[in-house]
Amino acid sequence: MTETARLVCIGCGQEQSELAADFRCTNCRDLLEVNCRVFDDRRDLESGGNLKALWVRRRTSLAPADLSGVWRFRELLPIVARIDEVVTLHEGNTPIYELPRSARSAGVNGLLAKHQGMNPTGSFKDTGMTAALSVAREKGFRWVACASTGNTSASMAAYAARAGMRSLVLIPEGKIAWGKLAQSLEYGALTCQLRADFDGCMRVLGEVIHRYPIYLLNSVNPYRIEGQKTAAVELMEQLEWRVPDHIVAPGGNLGNSSALGKGLLEMVKLGLIERLPRLHVIQAEGANALVRTVRETGGKRLISVAAETMATAIRIGNPASWKKAVRVLEATCGMVEQVSEAEIAIAKAEIGEDGIGCEPASAATLAGLKKLVAQGHVKPDEKTVLILTGHVLKDPEYTFKFHQGSLLEGEDSGRKLERELRQHQRAPVVLDAKADEVLRVLESNS
Ligand code: F0G
Repeated sequence: MTETARLVCIGCGQEQSELAADFRCTNCRDLLEVNCRVFDDRRDLESGGNLKALWVRRRTSLAPADLSGVWRFRELLPIVARIDEVVTLHEGNTPIYELPRSARSAGVNGLLAKHQGMNPTGSFKDTGMTAALSVAREKGFRWVACASTGNTSASMAAYAARAGMRSLVLIPEGKIAWGKLAQSLEYGALTCQLRADFDGCMRVLGEVIHRYPIYLLNSVNPYRIEGQKTAAVELMEQLEWRVPDHIVAPGGNLGNSSALGKGLLEMVKLGLIERLPRLHVIQAEGANALVRTVRETGGKRLISVAAETMATAIRIGNPASWKKAVRVLEATCGMVEQVSEAEIAIAKAEIGEDGIGCEPASAATLAGLKKLVAQGHVKPDEKTVLILTGHVLKDPEYTFKFHQGSLLEGEDSGRKLERELRQHQRAPVVLDAKADEVLRVLESNS
């Protein structure tokens, strides 16, 4: 931490000098956030020249921090003392793609996706991990830990390995995608599969960090949020600072939507963008804590749910960052929406047909966009960006089952959706090893 940034409680506003192991306010137990004094006056930040020009110039540099799509924006991240010692895998720098088929299906004239699944470990978590793990190393920790639905753990394990640190992963047994579990093992994490869901893993970890000197890397760690907010900055730079009308993100523990919102608000404060886009958050129907919280309490009180969804990344019933997310929704006039398992599966297949692909949780964005268009919140000629959070290869079992037709077995998705589901299924064809056989199939498909 540098003298330009301080940690402030989002509830009571108290500045924290001594940090608790669980990153909660020592006064009222609410979450903390990094508050940068320099943002009060952009001139302080621009002593090195125009920020936008400086960030573009760094793109030609080969210094490790400049090759990172997070640390390239380091003026917005005054959280480490030594920029040349950050732990980086060249995260960020993720592409924006046009999704013409998905746009047609959503009923909009054009649609963009920022694919955070193209990060080094295949999810947006890397942008936050480089930040928080760099802080952990600077503070001299040997062990880091997280509870995870799979992506945070994959990312943490990789960054800890790069830093020569040890990592402890707590994941729900049987409820994370194989690709993610495999990553955690490959990067050498001590991986514990608990007989619990994500929320249960969080509870256990909460006790462990008080009984062992281990650094918590869940998104309650405010440095994670700092790293993740740079995705919004990178997005605006890629759009040549022309603000889109809508950004749509999936919501689980709600760190990501909070981070994107923080990035957007800071950019407005600094005059980097002129106005805010609306930031919408989409959840799975079976893990809809934020939807219920907003609809039933006006965002005043968290309604926890017993989470169940095949989009295992967002199978979370007690989201830690719900208050931060509510604030972002209020500041950006964002909507919160929920989508069914069939709607997610169809949207995922459509993004695949655009040649992009993503994991199920990411596809909730397109499914949600369809609803926002139908409700009139998003107009066909408005500019919308979906945040795709994870790579298609994270969860091959889901994709395979979908195409085989067994994914939604036993579920009643309704006639219309069932027809749509079938239209997107492409099961592999098993044939005798003869050219005639292949030609027969080829002809019947042309
Ligand atoms: N998409 C993917 C692919 C995720 O892995 C997650 C969260 C989310 C969306 C939701 O983001 O929690 O910031 O609202 N995955 C966490 C994990 C919880 O442990 O990997 P969020």
